[in-house]
Amino acid sequence: MTMDAQEMYLKMKARLEKIVPDVELRYKAELAAQIIELKREKNAVILGHNYMEPALYYSIPDFVGDSLELSRKAAQTDKDIIVFCGVKFMAETAKILNPTKTVLLPSEKAGCSLAASITAEDVRALKRQFPGVPVVTYVNTYADVKAESDICCTSGNAKAVVNSLKSDMVIFLPDEYLASNVAREMGKRIIFPEPNPPIPPFLVGKGGAGRIGKGTMIGWRGRCEVHEKFTVEDIKAVRQQFPEVVILSHPECSPEVVAASDFSGSTGAMIRYVEQTKAPQYLLLTECAMGDNIAAANPDKEMLRLCSVRCPHMNQITLEDTLDALKLNRYVIEVPEDISRRAYKAVERMIAIG
Ligand code: 13P
Ligand code: SF4
Repeated sequence: MTMDAQEMYLKMKARLEKIVPDVELRYKAELAAQIIELKREKNAVILGHNYMEPALYYSIPDFVGDSLELSRKAAQTDKDIIVFCGVKFMAETAKILNPTKTVLLPSEKAGCSLAASITAEDVRALKRQFPGVPVVTYVNTYADVKAESDICCTSGNAKAVVNSLKSDMVIFLPDEYLASNVAREMGKRIIFPEPNPPIPPFLVGKGGAGRIGKGTMIGWRGRCEVHEKFTVEDIKAVRQQFPEVVILSHPECSPEVVAASDFSGSTGAMIRYVEQTKAPQYLLLTECAMGDNIAAANPDKEMLRLCSVRCPHMNQITLEDTLDALKLNRYVIEVPEDISRRAYKAVERMIAIG
């Protein structure tokens, strides 16, 4: 082991001794040390989403966080290269916010079921159906969809973004469950219009909003293939076995699951919630790796998680692929200039709100 690898091994061991077996820690520390060296050589910054596996999460990123926090870091960096240990829509957002930088995503397979659920043409069709109604899109969308939007949001700021629009009606895309949860919390009605036949414009044009209903959100039936799998039955079963458990769910879970949970928030908000509260056990209804990461930072707290439900996209990002990304300068994220310029307005408007 080189000196750098030994140092990295000790740093990782301090956090992960009880989570990752030593034999694996040594192997991963070698990889992480090589990545750090290349990162310095190439003047790169590494951003790591909260769903990264523990050995990656606690070794190579300069910054870890949820989508909103990492967008801010991407916008602010002065490094030449941004390596995004997350999924494609996050890397695209980084490129939109900081277009002169090279943005690398370590795996071409790191997609997202929500981002794949809607196209730019779908958004244009909704805008024709509901002329003049502002469009909010979740950041879990691709750049061409963001370009059709007035403003983006993340799970961490969705309500603030909707409020900022001061509009009776809002189109909120593409997550059916996030939209339903936001509508429920804000006391709004939500509808999911069928694309055909279109709603006649006179119903939604000037003065028409009343006929659809003031305070209405117009949603889309996209879903996260991970969070849609958690059920109220899971929650009941866990509560029966662990009566004092505190249950946290991501707002991409169904409204029934969110209502049956003790707390719901972005990945960053869930991490802070566990840090700031005291309970004998917590159950996380989100990507399982985050449970390992929280357990590593809070050894006095027991984290329960349902690890048969995993995000196949986030799990594509490994230390091996991150090393190759830096060695081979791959996979470069490009966003066509016209799309980038329009998407920037929507993302920047969101960042300004917080
Ligand atoms: P956060 O914005 O809460 O980090 O969530 C991103 C995501 O993809 C959740 O599935
Ligand atoms: Fe997309 Fe769901 Fe994976 Fe998040 S957890 S990246 S929303 S598929």
